[in-house]
Amino acid sequence: MTLPTEEQTIKTWTNGPYTISTDPTLIPLETLNKWFASDDFYWAKDLPLPALEQSLQNSLCFGLYHTADSDNDNDNSFIGIARCITDHVTFAYITDVYVHQSHQGKGLGRWLVKCIGEATEAMPHLRRSMLFTMDWGRSVPFYEKVLGMEVAECKRGEGMAMMMRKGRGYPRSMDG
Ligand SMILES: CC(C)(COP(=O)(O)OP(=O)(O)OC[C@H]1O[C@@H](n2cnc3c(N)ncnc32)[C@H](O)[C@@H]1OP(=O)(O)O)[C@@H](O)C(=O)NCCC(=O)NCCS
Repeated sequence: MTLPTEEQTIKTWTNGPYTISTDPTLIPLETLNKWFASDDFYWAKDLPLPALEQSLQNSLCFGLYHTADSDNDNDNSFIGIARCITDHVTFAYITDVYVHQSHQGKGLGRWLVKCIGEATEAMPHLRRSMLFTMDWGRSVPFYEKVLGMEVAECKRGEGMAMMMRKGRGYPRSMDG
């Protein structure tokens, strides 16, 4: 039997009308899937809903909600997400960082990523957190500044080799 670690208990952060929660069951699957299918998520594509639900259940999710909207429509309050694929002990892979256009530019992306930083820093045995991005102009400086991440410079035969292989779910749009 696997017992939940402290890192796996639900966490919530509040900032005025905005809330971040690590409860994956709060995330409206259809809305997230529409985002996945959109050009904003150029690194992803939509999924069969059971597969999407499974990936959220198996991740440390950071759902971003605008609580002032919550009376209007169930989905209206869901305005962003970030996800850590992690064993909650040794490794964390950060992905799917997104704030809906209607709420961008208010510091919410930075807050979302800082919450990931807080959650990963609470893992005493974490060896490494990682992410991939093709956005050298904005994302690389952003993660350097907000999370203290470094670009792993790979040169064959020297230092750390970062290896990867595309899977069957790799979006064709990323092949350029
Ligand atoms: C990236 C994103 C999450 C930022 O959210 P946000 O709430 O607008 O961000 P904030 O208001 O906290 O701050 C913006 C910071 O994010 C940085 N940033 C990183 N990637 C960015 C992007 N693709 N688009 C806009 N800003 C981006 C900006 O440079 C800015 O940093 P600065 O204040 O030092 O100039 C949001 O623009 C988004 O969802 N974009 C589409 C999805 C995407 O590209 N995700 C990749 C995440 S790296």
